[in-house]
Amino acid sequence: MATIVSKERMLSFEKECNEKYGTDHLRFEKECEHGTLSIRIPRGTWDIMDVLIPKILKYRRGNIVEIGMGESSLIFAKHAFDAHVNLYSCDLKLGGMFNVFDRELFDGHFCYVGKSEDFIKEFDGFPAIVFLDGEHRYEIIKKEVDFFLPRLLPDGVMFLHDTMPIYEYNTKPDKDGLNPGDAYRMRQELERNPEVDVFTWPFSANDMGLTMVIKHDNERPYWRLNGRNNALQEKA
Ligand SMILES: C[S@@+](CC[C@H](N)C(=O)[O-])C[C@H]1O[C@@H](n2cnc3c(N)ncnc32)[C@H](O)[C@@H]1O
Repeated sequence: MATIVSKERMLSFEKECNEKYGTDHLRFEKECEHGTLSIRIPRGTWDIMDVLIPKILKYRRGNIVEIGMGESSLIFAKHAFDAHVNLYSCDLKLGGMFNVFDRELFDGHFCYVGKSEDFIKEFDGFPAIVFLDGEHRYEIIKKEVDFFLPRLLPDGVMFLHDTMPIYEYNTKPDKDGLNPGDAYRMRQELERNPEVDVFTWPFSANDMGLTMVIKHDNERPYWRLNGRNNALQEKA
């Protein structure tokens, strides 16, 4: 499915996108029952992941999975290319609802167009990084997390977006990834999971919350002897 694209070509996607959509925001507009729904996401919104991804890949090299394509794909593609790992992106639409690109970004970028629930039926890899920013309904994200967490490499990192919206009205039920919905419930559940450590940045696209989940490597002596798992087991 992937095509061979030079690094120069890959980086020029960003330039093309800037020219097409402007340099400050990505825009999505849709007619709905109350008029025109308009979503604007500031460009450069994934700056935290941009800094962290090369470090994560340095210590836990492996493939990347992304649910919800867009500007995030450009960040992942850049670092996957540099680290010689594959990027698997899934969305209902190639390039995502912001139409950020219209073909795979480099050799090693595999795009699945369809629902995440169908993508996970076909995906059989063990990624180092997973990014969940598709449909923001707890039931859907729960399916994604339940599938990917056991497959995530030890010390691998899962990012979830829209997990800490500023206003309560942002938690109204989601359709197609248009608002944060109840993604925060997945964060709360992961915060109680002794297999992982969880940290949430309030800053991200529209300051809706970006959660980082690092999966414990149970082979580490710390987790075998003193870690949270053992403490919980002793209490049980
Ligand atoms: C908030 S946007 C993602 C933004 C993107 N990460 C970016 O950097 O621009 C949510 C995306 O999820 C996609 N989506 C919605 N429901 C989905 C589903 N069930 N499976 C996969 N993708 C879905 C939408 O088409 C939309 O592009």
